[in-house]
Amino acid sequence: MNKETKVWPADEPAIAEAARTLREGGIVAFPTETVYGLGADARNPQAVRRVFEAKGRPSDNPLIVHIADRGQLEELVLPYGEIPARLMEAFWPGPLTIVLPVRPGAAAPQVTAGLDTVAVRMPAHPVALRLIAAAGCPVAAPSANRSGRPSPTLAAHVLEDLAGRIDGVVDGGQAEVGLESTVVMVEDDRIRVLRPGGVTREALAEAAGCDVVAEGAASGEGEECGDQPGGESNRDAAPRSPGMKYAHYAPRGEMTLVIGDGEAVRAWIGREAAAARAAGCRTGVLTFEEHAGYYDADAVVVCGSLARPEQAAQRLYAALREFDARGIGRIWAEGCPPEGIGLALMNRLAKAAGGRIVRV
Ligand code: TXA
Ligand code: MG
Repeated sequence: MNKETKVWPADEPAIAEAARTLREGGIVAFPTETVYGLGADARNPQAVRRVFEAKGRPSDNPLIVHIADRGQLEELVLPYGEIPARLMEAFWPGPLTIVLPVRPGAAAPQVTAGLDTVAVRMPAHPVALRLIAAAGCPVAAPSANRSGRPSPTLAAHVLEDLAGRIDGVVDGGQAEVGLESTVVMVEDDRIRVLRPGGVTREALAEAAGCDVVAEGAASGEGEECGDQPGGESNRDAAPRSPGMKYAHYAPRGEMTLVIGDGEAVRAWIGREAAAARAAGCRTGVLTFEEHAGYYDADAVVVCGSLARPEQAAQRLYAALREFDARGIGRIWAEGCPPEGIGLALMNRLAKAAGGRIVRV
């Protein structure tokens, strides 16, 4: 699978070429407002299979289908209710993925991993929308990283993971949100958040005027994440969003998420990092602007200000990749309040920590 990966600028001729590549069964990474996606024609089983292969993604984890307009939606799904319609009205285009009943035969079977639903999203990124419209097909696109790695927020991250394995990447600069879309399904007149993301629970409740509940797994409590704040426990239930059961977003070093009172957190991390360093380990701390000065480690990486969690969300994945670039073996990450976008941030931190969460 070693071939040249083209890097296209985000201009019209390049988008036209990328669209042609998609139409002809190629696989192309492109920017969205959340993270970069790795796209394939959702109706083409061979193209979709290549996406799974390039990522090393388990085949029971279905893909999100990206659309550019409502016409494409009607071809893809069966009639749906009032609540999904309100959500589309309020949040599309935007970082919200809605799980809907799939129209039989509308997508290659691997896209839905055999479920009778399909996850659909209309991204709020001009390059993504132009590419999908020019391709003229629904575009199945998981995040454009190797499975288990942090999602890419720059074209350079895509190349880091997938150069030689995909046909090309459209370089649209830095992804604005930085974390993946919120994934929801509607059942019994309630919205169930399967994965927290760019659209907050608070915003969903306000727009839809109904209850919003969090899947245990969505708040970080997958089988491998037993102790994540911010969501109701649901440990016995099978995860409804199959992807949530896998380890995700992880840097290569072993990461621990530390939660609790600010001073206690800093003292605990300080002690642990000093001990690890004394034992010859390269240490890293992922922290917020306000606390950066407290730490002494081989890499102190600031992902943003506590006062602006959306900024921390935007930078999180690049920060995780920075630890890799600096050869860090052990990482401690500070938690943040699980409110608004902070809930999605904590979800990704818990996942990146592979369930190593310490309360102090
Ligand atoms: O922001 C995003 O959502 C990015 C960009 C590229 O759009 N995409 C993304 O895709 O994060 P991916 O494949 O990394 O995550 C898709 C998530 C997985 O957790 C998967 O299990 C869930 O959506 N999913 C897909 N289809 C589903 C379905 N029919 N029912 C429940 N969950 C589904
Ligand atoms: Mg992903």
